[in-house]
Amino acid sequence: MGADASKVKQLIDKKGSGELDYKLASALVNNLPKKLSAAGKKLLESIPQGKPVTVEAIFKAFEGVKVDIRNVSAAIKKSEASSGPKLDFTADEVKKSAEIEAMAERPKGRPTPEQAAALKKQKGAKSVFYQAVRQRLKLEKKEWSDKKIQKSIDAFKKSLEEGKDVKKAAIILEPPSGTRDFYPREYAVQRWLFSKMRSVGVAFGFQEYDAPVLEHAELYKRKAGEEITQQMYNFIDKEGAEVTLRPEMTPTLARMVLRQMDEAGEIRDLLPLKWFSIPQCWRFETTQRGRKREHYQWNMDIVGIKGVAAELELLAAITTFFKSLGITSKDVGIKINSRKVLGAIVQAAGVPKDMFAPVCVIIDKLDKIGPECVTAELLEKQVPKESASMILKAMECKSIQQLADLCEGKVDMGAVEELKSLFNDAKSYGFSDFLIFDASVVRGLAYYTGIVFECFDRRGELRAICGGGRYDRLMSLYGSQKEVPCVGFGFGDCVIVELLKELKLMPKVLHDTRRQVDFVVAPFNSALFGPACSVAGLLREGGFTVDMLQEPQKKVAKAFSYADRAGAKRIVLVAPSEWENKSVTVKDLRVEGLSAHDKAKNKGEIIPLTELVDRMKKDMS
Ligand code: HAM
Repeated sequence: MGADASKVKQLIDKKGSGELDYKLASALVNNLPKKLSAAGKKLLESIPQGKPVTVEAIFKAFEGVKVDIRNVSAAIKKSEASSGPKLDFTADEVKKSAEIEAMAERPKGRPTPEQAAALKKQKGAKSVFYQAVRQRLKLEKKEWSDKKIQKSIDAFKKSLEEGKDVKKAAIILEPPSGTRDFYPREYAVQRWLFSKMRSVGVAFGFQEYDAPVLEHAELYKRKAGEEITQQMYNFIDKEGAEVTLRPEMTPTLARMVLRQMDEAGEIRDLLPLKWFSIPQCWRFETTQRGRKREHYQWNMDIVGIKGVAAELELLAAITTFFKSLGITSKDVGIKINSRKVLGAIVQAAGVPKDMFAPVCVIIDKLDKIGPECVTAELLEKQVPKESASMILKAMECKSIQQLADLCEGKVDMGAVEELKSLFNDAKSYGFSDFLIFDASVVRGLAYYTGIVFECFDRRGELRAICGGGRYDRLMSLYGSQKEVPCVGFGFGDCVIVELLKELKLMPKVLHDTRRQVDFVVAPFNSALFGPACSVAGLLREGGFTVDMLQEPQKKVAKAFSYADRAGAKRIVLVAPSEWENKSVTVKDLRVEGLSAHDKAKNKGEIIPLTELVDRMKKDMS
């Protein structure tokens, strides 16, 4: 190759590894002048795709051919540019980009109106797609134009197709849409919130229970035409059973209670059952603020009490919970209504009892579809026109008295009386400031039969905070011979956190969720790792929290820096000379204002192992 050989070698072998990436080698070869390119291609044919190409082999291929170094330099520049900017795309992005490409093809001549429309649609899809890619990869538009991203995707796709790039399409790092990762910081918030829920449950004498997140889909399907059945994460398992991730807990509770029923229809456990749980629930919903596809839902339910005393107890639990978080009746309210009033109207009109649940599901859509559509759907269910209009009128009532006047003489007034007594008793309980009568609250779940309620944010910015009510016929729907009175609520974990943030009520302690331990035990070398483990064990048995330095550090400053990051109060150094006398060195790290370096200089105290735990208990109490 002549005198320039070493220069060319350097130029090609920039990394000095003696090898070239196959992709770069092939781009380089393609950009060389004809003669060289032919020789290079021959060489590449003899090398398996994707394998690196040695610089030596390239030289051999060019042997006897005159090389102009400027040509090689230009070819290198060109090949590096043609490999394009490197980004890692996900498999979904690669697929989406191909789908968009397939939407339209630019014709050679003037596009027909159909082609023009398809191209326009494709342009829109591209712009949305590029923006999403920029967002995910946190790229600035001014640096990453649509064109540049497309070029990068093309290069990425090509390398995947050719299998030349060993890199695989990157996995998506975000959790599935609408679901959440709980990093330690978020998990600390979650645990804190759950502990508040648990405390209230226990304070009210409820027992905690749990069940599998996988449930029989039939439990939800048997209810009448609710939206929730459309939102299920259901599938047929490998034995052919139709199962679902539970969208709510109430049917599971009913199933569990029914399992406790004997042949005579008596529940074997002591009634009333007062149970609480904090299950994760799954609903395929459109995600928005405070609404996810998975959420945790604190449930409290009472089984076996017919009267509103049970509702009162649950409302008291909810308001106690609010107060424990610092939320007052100025921030939130609880809308109360009774389905029994609507039931009485429907029953007086002669509509069969089993039509009541589907009728309520229709009425609950009033906000979404308006009174005309609700009336039309009620007529379809054989509800007479006058009853339909009375239901709608009842939903407009602004007070219990107005409702009483409307129903007077037309239906059984028991339901109205029940509402009145609930509001009166709430005064004695001391939480009536939270309650508001709202005749438009019906709730979307089919099983409610009596009082229903929903907590809301008084500024009207957030979705429902909590919801519940009486469901006396759910057990019968599942096969119980007897009606079993039940009432309960579900309180989600998403909206409440949004509200706490807005009201600046998140406890300060959660802002600092760094690790904290009493001790870090640091072995001086690997020979002392075993002894260090025994020291850690000793301290843990003594009731202390201990983190072990897994990689022994001769440099004490490094051990101190680790202990600092671990949030340790003290460091225990296990070093050869002290260990010979069965002792360790303990240094207090909570001396104000010392850097890791200064802390390392601080001599500490040598303590015999036999005294270590007692001494530390005394010092740290
Ligand atoms: P629910 O109204 O469907 O009732 O849900 C209760 C609460 O769970 C809602 O108020 C909300 O806080 C939360 N929630 C529901 N769906 C979502 C979601 N997609 N994302 C975030 N939070 C959500 C029930 O589920 C009834 N089983 C409650 C009950 C228990 N009734 C009697 N006992």
